[in-house]
Amino acid sequence: MSPSTSTRGGGGGGLLSPAAVVIAVVAVLLSAAQAREEPCYQRLFSFGDSLTDTGNFPFIFGNDSREPALRPPYGETFFRRATGRFSDGRLVVDFIADALGLPFVRPYWSGRTAGDFARGANFAVGGATALRPDFFRARGVPMADIVHLDMEMKWFRDLLGLLCPGDLSGCTGMINQSLFLVGEIGGNDYNLPLLRGVSITKIRSFTPSVIAKISSTITLSLQELIGLGAKTLLVPGNLPIGCVPNYLMIFKSDKKEDYEPETGCLRWMNEFSQYHNKLLTDELEKLRKLHPDVAIIYADYYGAAMEIYLSPEQFGIEDPLAACCGGGGQYGVSGTARCGYGEYKVCDDPQKYGSWDGFHPSEAAYKAIAIGLLRGSYTQPSIATTTNSCPQITELSSSVEYKNCRTVLHMTAVSQVIGWLLFFLLSF
Ligand SMILES: *[C@@H]1O[C@H](CO)[C@@H](O)[C@H](O)[C@H]1NC(C)=O
Ligand SMILES: *[C@@H]1O[C@H](CO)[C@@H](O)[C@H](O)[C@H]1NC(C)=O
Repeated sequence: MSPSTSTRGGGGGGLLSPAAVVIAVVAVLLSAAQAREEPCYQRLFSFGDSLTDTGNFPFIFGNDSREPALRPPYGETFFRRATGRFSDGRLVVDFIADALGLPFVRPYWSGRTAGDFARGANFAVGGATALRPDFFRARGVPMADIVHLDMEMKWFRDLLGLLCPGDLSGCTGMINQSLFLVGEIGGNDYNLPLLRGVSITKIRSFTPSVIAKISSTITLSLQELIGLGAKTLLVPGNLPIGCVPNYLMIFKSDKKEDYEPETGCLRWMNEFSQYHNKLLTDELEKLRKLHPDVAIIYADYYGAAMEIYLSPEQFGIEDPLAACCGGGGQYGVSGTARCGYGEYKVCDDPQKYGSWDGFHPSEAAYKAIAIGLLRGSYTQPSIATTTNSCPQITELSSSVEYKNCRTVLHMTAVSQVIGWLLFFLLSF
C-alpha cells in the first residue's frame, strides 16, 4: 500500500557474497550508532486527551482527584508506579519519542524552565475535547469544565513565550525541527455525551455538522502550528470505539447484525469512528494542497488498532476485546466495578489484553498501534518515506520494536522448551 522507496525495493535478486553481507551489516551498525547520537527531530510536542496524557492531569485537577489513573495499578507494567498515564504502561507518544531517540515527552505542567522543555512538551490532558464545553451545553449536553484543544494551543503559545522571549520569529528554527503529534483528540467529544446518557439518536443527530466542526477545529490548530513554522505534523484519527469494552457492555445487543463478524466489535460505533476519520482526512488533504512544503501525516489509529482485533496473536494479545483491570465478565468490565475504585479485579498479565481499564488500551495495544505507525503501513504518507532524513524512523520501518516483539515470542518458546526438558528430567 505504501509507496515503495529505492532502499526498500529489490529483495528477490541474486545471492550476496559474504563480503557484501559484512559490509552491509557494518554500514547498518554505523548508521544505527550515528542515529543514537543525533535525534532527527530536536523536539516532540504533543496535544490530545487521555490517550496521550503523560502526567498533566494531576496538575490541573489535583493530586487528590478521584481519578484512579493517578494511583496503582495504573502504570504497573513499565513504570512500576502511577505516572498519570491512563494505562498500565507506555502510550503511543512514548513509543514514538523512544523511536526518535528522544526522552519521554515531559508533561507541560510538570516543567518550569526553558531547559525543562529542551526536548519538547506534552499538552495532552485526560478528558480533553476538541470543542469547547459551551458547544455541548448550548445543545443540552451537560459538560463539566474540562480541557479543550484551544486551551492546549494557548499553553503552547505560552511556552513559546518562555522558549523564545520577546520575538516568536526566533522560534522558527526550533519549531521547524520539531515533530508535532496533534491528537488523538475528538474522541471525548463523542465519549462524554455517550456516557452522560445522551441518546444514540441524539448523538447521531450530531452528525455530520458536529463531526465536521470537530475536524475543522483540529485543522484550525494545525493551521496555527503551520503558521508558527511547523514542518512535520502527525495527526491521529479516532480509534475503533466499537471495540472499547465499556461500550461493548453498555450497548450490548441481541442483534447479530449489530456486530462485525470478524472482530466482534459494535458495527455502528466503528462506522462512527470511520466517519470522523473520513472527514478529518478530507480536511488534511485540503491542508496539504495549501501547504505543500509541510509534511502532514495522517496516523491511522483505526487501521493500526484493527490489526489487534483481527489478529491479536501477532502481538501476543489473547483477549483483544477485554479489559485487564475492572469488573471481570465477558469484556472485563461491569456497571459497578471500575479499575482503581473500590472492589475491582486486575489480571495477572496485562500484555494479554487489548484494553487496560475498559476505556483505554493496554500498553500491549499501544505498542501494536505504534509499530503499525512507525513501520509506515498506517501513516499516510508513510512516516518512513516522509522523514527519510531521519535514520531512526527509516530503521524502524524494518523495525526495532517489531524485532523486540519477536524476541519475546522466541523467549517464550525457549522457556517452554526448558519447561518440557525439566518435566522429562523430573519424570525419569
Ligand atoms: C502531589 O502531591 C505531592 C505530595 O504532596 C507533591 O509533592 C506533588 O508535587 C503533587 N503533585 C501535583 C501534580 O500536584
Ligand atoms: C528552519 O528555520 C531556520 C530559521 O528560520 C532556517 O534557517 C532553516 O533553514 C529552517 N530549516 C528547515 C529544515 O526548514
